[in-house]
Order: sequence, then structure tokens, then C-alpha cells
Amino acid sequence: MKTAVVGLGYVGLPLSLQFARSGVSVLGLDVDAAKVDALRKGKSYIKHIPSEAVSEVVKAGTFSATSDFSRIREADALIICVPTPLNKNREPDISFIIDTGKSIAPYLRPGSLVVLESTTYPGTTDEDLREVLEAGSGLKAGRDFHLAFSPEREDPGNPDSKVALIPKVVGGYTPACLEKAVALYSRAVKTVVPVSSCRAAEATKLLENTFRSVNIALVNELKTVYSAMGIDVWEVIDAARTKPFGFMPFYPGPGLGGHCIPIDPFYLTWKAREFGQHTRFIELAGEINTAMPAYVVHKVADALNDRQKAIKGSSVLVLGLAYKPNVDDERESPSYVLMEMLQERGAKVAYYDPYVPVIKPTREHAHWAGTRSVAWNKKTITTFDAVLIATNHACVNYEQLADWTECIVDTRNAMAKVGTSPGQVWKA
Ligand SMILES: NC(=O)c1ccc[n+]([C@@H]2O[C@H](COP(=O)([O-])OP(=O)(O)OC[C@H]3O[C@@H](n4cnc5c(N)ncnc54)[C@H](O)[C@@H]3O)[C@@H](O)[C@H]2O)c1
Repeated sequence: MKTAVVGLGYVGLPLSLQFARSGVSVLGLDVDAAKVDALRKGKSYIKHIPSEAVSEVVKAGTFSATSDFSRIREADALIICVPTPLNKNREPDISFIIDTGKSIAPYLRPGSLVVLESTTYPGTTDEDLREVLEAGSGLKAGRDFHLAFSPEREDPGNPDSKVALIPKVVGGYTPACLEKAVALYSRAVKTVVPVSSCRAAEATKLLENTFRSVNIALVNELKTVYSAMGIDVWEVIDAARTKPFGFMPFYPGPGLGGHCIPIDPFYLTWKAREFGQHTRFIELAGEINTAMPAYVVHKVADALNDRQKAIKGSSVLVLGLAYKPNVDDERESPSYVLMEMLQERGAKVAYYDPYVPVIKPTREHAHWAGTRSVAWNKKTITTFDAVLIATNHACVNYEQLADWTECIVDTRNAMAKVGTSPGQVWKA
């Protein structure tokens, strides 16, 4: 049995490796020739995936990578893991899914299975993707080929998160489609959780991500309220989390980042309108979370003001460009928004992130492309008027930061365990 995985990014690559390690022959497909080239050489391009994990399965012959979509013919099962962003009007952009559907349809074989993993609104699999697959192949879903949805639950940067051990929700277009998809995932994943339809599986993923977005918004709001009352929200969360039932800690920050939490809930908002429904929790959470960078910049202004300085003309270092600790993924990172807001107010802005040595071109933040992380040494770091901690990478030496910088604005409570002097750290 051969399985093709289309889209070899943060989701598709670890999934491919897990299947390959489980003895399933995997053909990885990506339109990015540089990724295909790296994988063929046994090299990883994702920080938390070691190259040995790739070279091992390449050598064993269970994994190969290609950009040649005609090789889809070889596959009995296809798993699609391509991006699902929002467009500039913050509406779902499922063009990557549609393009993938068009590229694979001509090579689809009767009896094969197609599974979508990209996070999306309910109906994408059995409406949008089904239509392009049927039109391009002349085959009928549920009769000639099988169709299913299974949401990814990748947690990049979490060393305890193993693809094989994370239960996998699966919904099929028909009961036979579900059976096929459950059989496929059971080869590589310990627990498969079948649900009644593709839509139920799509909706499950949206519930999971909306849950995070709403709860993060709640603690972000409490951060601002408690701060005004002179109460430290971090202390409060640490105390609350000692409750052995009915509480789960979420932590405030400078705003949402990454490819999922800031985006996915709005896929549901968009689809809900078709049914005359409003997603008020999602909208409110979005409003609170997107207001966070402005709150943080206010704190930077307060901290500088305390030293008779203005943002205008000050040099500010943003520490951490990745959207969460210990990863090299800076998509949708609030650090970009912080840097832009500070720059608009006249600050000289630089960043430090050992995992993002240089900023790659992006559509949203084009003018930062090519900007390099500053070096981590006393001579460089002491030149800044303020350091704004946006991401708490574990590898950063926060004791050195305390020695080198008088003015630290901390959005992650990274300085909590470091000895600092009164007025040196501003929690934001
Ligand atoms: N990153 C996460 O932690 C995470 C977690 C859960 C779910 N997801 C979801 O999984 C999906 C993929 O996310 P990701 O983080 O892996 O994205 P990614 O950008 O890291 O990877 C996507 C890959 O797809 C490739 N690609 C784009 N169009 C293609 C096409 N037409 N044919 C073949 N390859 C194509 C890109 O070159 C890229 O390598 C998204 O829907 C995302 O919301 C991501």
C-alpha cells in the first residue's frame, strides 16, 4: 500500500515520517522544489524535526519526495495537508485545497482514498473538494473513490507531542469511506476516533481552535483588568491552576500568532453566515486578542516614559519573532505587529530570535524581508533603550538580559524567576 502526502510543511512532513516509520510506503508531494530537494538529500527544514528522522526513512526506502503529480497514480491513499489562510478581507482562502484537488484528480484511481487534513469550514470536503475531484477524474466520490476528513493536531515545539500518540478524529463521506480512512490511520496512529461525517470532523477541529482563542482572549482581558487593579494575572493563574478540577490554565500574551488559532475560527464565522448564524464569542475573542499589541506598545511607552524617554527616537529590541517558544515558525506572529507599531511611532526597531536569523519574504509584512536578527552579546544588547519580550524561547539567557538591560517589557512572564531591580521589568 502506498500513501501520498500532499503538502510537506509543519503538518505533512511529521505525518509522512510517522507513516513511513510504521512501514507504510510514503510518497511526499510538494510544489516547493527546495523542500523536495532537501528531503531527497535526507535533510529537514523544520527545526524540531531532526534530519536523521528524514534520512532514516529515505535510506529505508519507505519515504520519497517529488513535485511530479503524475506519480499520484502510484498511490492507494492520498492525504492533503496544504495551507488554509485567510485572504486580505479575512475570508477563507481554500484555493490551495482546490488547486491540489485539480492537480491530483486526473491521476486518481478507482478504489483509492482521499483524505483532507487542512483545517477548514464544515462542507469543504464533501462540497468543494469533492466537486473538483469528481470533475477532474470522472469518478464519483463514495462510489468510485473514498473521501474523508481528518484534522491535524500537530503541536510544534512540544517534545511530548508525538503524532503516533495523538488520537486522530476521522469522518467519512460514506460509512465505507470512514472504514477505509480508519484503516489507513490505524496503521500509524494508536487511537483513531471515528465521527459520523466529514463535517463533524471539520467542526471538531474548529471547536478545538475556537476554544483556545476564546480562553486566551479571556486571560488577555483579565490581564488588563487585573493590571489596572495592581494584581499580577500570572500569579492568579498559577494559583487557580492548583484547582484539581474544572480549570485549565491559559496564559496571556502580546496577541495571537501561528497558522491556526488567529485564523481558523474565522472559517467558521464565514460559513455560519450562510446559515444566518453569528459567532459572537469568536468575534469578541478576535477583538480582544487583536487589541493586545496596542496594549503592549502602551506599556513600552510607559516604561520608556519612566526613564524620561519617548518611543520616538528610542531603540527597541523585540525579543522573539516566532509566534510561540522554541519553534522557528513566525507566521502571523504578533511580533511583526509590535515592530510595525513601534516603528510607526518613531522607534528604531530590531529583533533577536536565534531560530529566525533572517526574515523571509511574506505577503503581509513584506518590508521586513531580509532583516536579520541582532547578535546576542553584551555590546549589542546594551545599546537598546528597551527590550520587549514577545516570545519566551527557553534558550535565551534571561539572567544576561537582566544584567544588560535596564528597561524590560515582558509579555510572557519570562523574567519571573530572574533577579531584577524594582522598576526594571514591566509586565505587559
Ligand atoms: N502548523 C500547525 O501547527 C498546524 C496544526 C494543525 C493544523 N494545521 C493545518 O494544517 C494545514 C497545513 O498547515 P502547515 O502548517 O503544515 O502549512 P505549511 O505552510 O507548513 O505547509 C504547507 C505545504 O503545502 C505546500 N503546498 C502549497 N500548495 C500546494 C499544492 N497545490 N500542492 C502541493 N503542495 C502544496 C507548501 O509548499 C507547503 O510546503 C493548514 O490547514 C493548517 O491550518 C496546522
